Amino acid sequence: MIALDRVLKLLESAPAEPDVGRGHLDLLGEAAESHDTVAQRLMRSGALPRIYEHVWRPVVFGLSKGGPLGPSTAEEYALARYWLGLADTPDATVLDVACGPGNVTRALASGMTADGLVVGADASATMLERAVADTHVRAGGADIAYVRCDAVDLPFRANTFDAVCCYGALYLFEDPWAAVASMARVLRPGGHLVVLATRRPRLPLVGRGMGALSRLTGIRMFGQTEIAEALSNAGFSAIRRRSYGLMQFTGATLG
Ligand SMILES: C[S@@+](CC[C@H](N)C(=O)[O-])C[C@H]1O[C@@H](n2cnc3c(N)ncnc32)[C@H](O)[C@@H]1O
Repeated sequence: MIALDRVLKLLESAPAEPDVGRGHLDLLGEAAESHDTVAQRLMRSGALPRIYEHVWRPVVFGLSKGGPLGPSTAEEYALARYWLGLADTPDATVLDVACGPGNVTRALASGMTADGLVVGADASATMLERAVADTHVRAGGADIAYVRCDAVDLPFRANTFDAVCCYGALYLFEDPWAAVASMARVLRPGGHLVVLATRRPRLPLVGRGMGALSRLTGIRMFGQTEIAEALSNAGFSAIRRRSYGLMQFTGATLG
């Protein structure tokens, strides 16, 4: 609960009676999800959060990253910590956008000090339920708190976070560029951002197949430089990219 108290101070407008009954701060309540795709329904289901971290993510992300040719999950997390500069700022205030069941959130918090705070933000109540349950047994590292909110319209004050991570989610959002603008708003100047998202294959035939899958599921496939260009337009510099199979990592610094 101490971490949730810390989060309340970061909000643009804190509720008079915060809903923290399920271990996370719920700012969405019963609000209906407007972006109702197959992928989003899966994220809100009761089943996926149970198998997400240990079955779904290693298999689906593993294949998407090119199998053994791509980085392992541990290497992905290490890249996020490195590009976000967390080794140099172990007391940072970090936002993990679309945190799901908290797998990345916990990885970011490990190695940080108790003065540090990692806030996991997600729209799915079932994912956050899992995140809270799995974080309960964690020992050491930064404080962790979870907030149920919309990543496209983050509820935090401007210039609040030293670092923002958005792994495995930009392609699910109805308006990914509004989400990027929202992340830029809550990030302090000089703060770091890292994004893991999809990458459209270069081969036309494969690309057409992925296009059909994309329309069916609601998962957007980004062009090779589309995210880097959007970050540049949103005021980011020092942009770096790494691509593996159907996935791409983009890191940047605000300002
Ligand atoms: C595939 S999980 C990613 C979890 C974790 N970041 C990872 O890399 O493994 C995608 C998450 O994005 C969340 N999500 C999708 N749209 C969202 C939105 N508009 N606002 C907040 N979270 C959203 C889903 O609920 C889901 O938990």
